[in-house]
Amino acid sequence: MFMKKLLEIMLSYYAQSNPVRLHMPGNKGKLTLDGRFDITELPCSGNLLYPNTCIESAQQQTATVYGSKRCRYLVNGSTIGIMGMVAVAVGDILMQRNSHISAYNALRLFDKRAYVLNNIQQSLLGKAITVEQIDKAVRANPSIGTVLLTSPNYMGDCCDIVAISKYCKQANLVLMCDSAHGGHHMFSPLLPESVTPYCDLCVVSVHKDLTSLTQTALMLGNNDRLFDLANYTVGRLTSTSPNYIMLSSIERAVVDAYERPDGYTQLSQSVSRLKSRLENVVRFKPNDDFTRLVIDTTSLNMTGEAVYMELEKRNIFCDVFSPHYVIMLLSVNNTEQDFIALESAIRDIESKCDHDAILPIITLPHVGDIEVVDNLLGETELVPFNESVGRICADNVGIAPPCIPLILAGQVITQHRLDEMKGKPTVNLVNGAIEVVK
Ligand SMILES: Cc1ncc(COP(=O)(O)O)c(C=O)c1O
Repeated sequence: MFMKKLLEIMLSYYAQSNPVRLHMPGNKGKLTLDGRFDITELPCSGNLLYPNTCIESAQQQTATVYGSKRCRYLVNGSTIGIMGMVAVAVGDILMQRNSHISAYNALRLFDKRAYVLNNIQQSLLGKAITVEQIDKAVRANPSIGTVLLTSPNYMGDCCDIVAISKYCKQANLVLMCDSAHGGHHMFSPLLPESVTPYCDLCVVSVHKDLTSLTQTALMLGNNDRLFDLANYTVGRLTSTSPNYIMLSSIERAVVDAYERPDGYTQLSQSVSRLKSRLENVVRFKPNDDFTRLVIDTTSLNMTGEAVYMELEKRNIFCDVFSPHYVIMLLSVNNTEQDFIALESAIRDIESKCDHDAILPIITLPHVGDIEVVDNLLGETELVPFNESVGRICADNVGIAPPCIPLILAGQVITQHRLDEMKGKPTVNLVNGAIEVVK
């Protein structure tokens, strides 16, 4: 057989086309890697599974910068940290409907029960939740012992972490947070408050917003006992050969962000200038974090997908779209040229869009304010995706990105949901089949 380097061909093509990168990772293709740094556990290099020497010191230094007591470097994304957190949750978990698939997967893997607050009425990407919503849920369901927030959400909206952590302390609840999109918040007063000093346990993805390699993340904690337990689980799920180039890219990204807070001042000014130049052309969704640039595509009378594809035709690659939004992830490695290219592309799209077109109305089925996800669904079977309408789903399935399940375990599968998933990259389907209750 004549083998081709298919991935390399694709990656070279993308890199050579000089794309505007408005997607993760935050390094925006500007990392310089040194292959000589790819080593194994040696007496000098320490060991992530049994941290000692430089790894232990690097983790401790990072914890201090994030205002946390403890830190573990992760080479399998926030995903694995979320698994570790859910595994050690105390009592039942209160979580948001827009939680990442890893939280739902961990419920299944570790046989946990969750009350899921329905915060997605307007968009699957979800709204921030409040102390009042948490309090109402906890009073109604006293078995809840852990609150697992997702803050910020994909669109850069944050929960009031100070108020929620105060509430959780008073109510004797464990507070955990998936802050995968908040790894940069510690590094500028222009950004929202970082959750890291306030949680018993939390995770941040370093690769999304800082400048490290994809898959790098941190688990941080202020509760020694829970941190040790979660660390124990993460250690058992992680490769025994964690990559030193990834590990050192975490450290480098954190040091760079710490030493260059002016990068965020410049980025914030570029974003403000762009928004004011496009004031009469397009609407941006207001949010808490200026590094999440969210186009409200209804202002162009187009769907999120259509605008995403039009930008792609103009060599501008965004992170994700939803029915009415396109979301761009910016970092200090984006340049003024990127913003100029984006501005001209949006002007061009606006000049060609059909202002009289009728946009499809998106309705998310209302499923009540709170849903229970547990794994006591009995016997299950796999059925072809197209033949599953009316069956009870036994897993949490959705599309990637954004990896937020469209159908939860225990929900009835509808045609509407199947249509939303058709032709898209799915998570938790098995060879085109979906797991349902027998
Ligand atoms: C809210 C949220 N949590 C967790 C993750 C997983 O993070 P990672 O890619 O670092 O594993 C993502 C990924 O996009 C996410 O959007």
